[in-house]
Amino acid sequence: MSEAVIAIDGPAGSGKSTVARALAGALGWSFLDTGAMYRAVTVEALARGLDVHDAGALAELANSVTLTTLPRVTVNGRDVEDEIRSETTNLAVSVVAANPEVRRAMVRRQREWADAQPVGTVVEGRDITTVVFPDATLKIYLTASLEERSRRRGDEDADSVARRDQVDSSRAASPLRQAHDATVIDTTDRTVEDVVGEIIRCLTAQRSR
Ligand code: CDP
Repeated sequence: MSEAVIAIDGPAGSGKSTVARALAGALGWSFLDTGAMYRAVTVEALARGLDVHDAGALAELANSVTLTTLPRVTVNGRDVEDEIRSETTNLAVSVVAANPEVRRAMVRRQREWADAQPVGTVVEGRDITTVVFPDATLKIYLTASLEERSRRRGDEDADSVARRDQVDSSRAASPLRQAHDATVIDTTDRTVEDVVGEIIRCLTAQRSR
């Protein structure tokens, strides 16, 4: 694994992507949005007319697609940056992400990607602190009130956000949960800069131990 990994998990709209991107920028590290990977596989499955409950077909797809998340989210070279946030994708992604074979394929790619990073990397998702990088340099769990989280999601209503949280937290394969050694930060009413500052202080404290 890359010399340093900051792993960030949390429910929808807790601020993971925004905070992780700003944190990576402040440190001069790379950044990986693993949710975009599950979303891109979902978009491709729907484009091919696959049934997202067809575990075998989804596993085969997850193992064979070419994915990028930066500078744009692409699947097999097709730009899906806009499509990954659609209502249809929001509805289907948690089903796709509950498939253990799909997860295995994504986790393998996430670890390979981190291995290839020259300095450090910030990785965010649902199972990063618990499954993907349990030995991360620093583990953070971001949270916020449901009202605030659905306000941040903008075009996704509170019911949809709550439904995704429920599916993500109750699934058998790598459910969303707080790692026992993660630092929990409630981002309700806090600015991105403030949260990034707190994480950098945690990193400094961790390294001086
Ligand atoms: O941006 P938001 O927090 O709403 O979601 P996201 O990070 O884009 O993730 C979309 C969906 O992918 C989640 O609702 C999970 O079902 C799934 N996911 C996951 O299972 N594991 C991850 N490491 C990242 C996302």
